[in-house]
Amino acid sequence: MYVCLCGGVTDNEIKEQVELGAESVSDLQKTLPIGLCCGTCDVVAEQFIKSFLPGAKDISYAA
Ligand code: FES
Repeated sequence: MYVCLCGGVTDNEIKEQVELGAESVSDLQKTLPIGLCCGTCDVVAEQFIKSFLPGAKDISYAA
């Protein structure tokens, strides 16, 4: 799913970067165009980062 609509960044791309060592939105911004326009994705991006860190619980979204 898209996390950042402005930059077209998906949760899978965030997961890949967390697996490579990203721990914050600013870390993601080194390789992904996330949070660089309207910034409304920052909070959700942080939640995804936390969910993908080792030992984190999965976050789920209700439809
Ligand atoms: S949705 Fe991510 S910067 Fe706008």
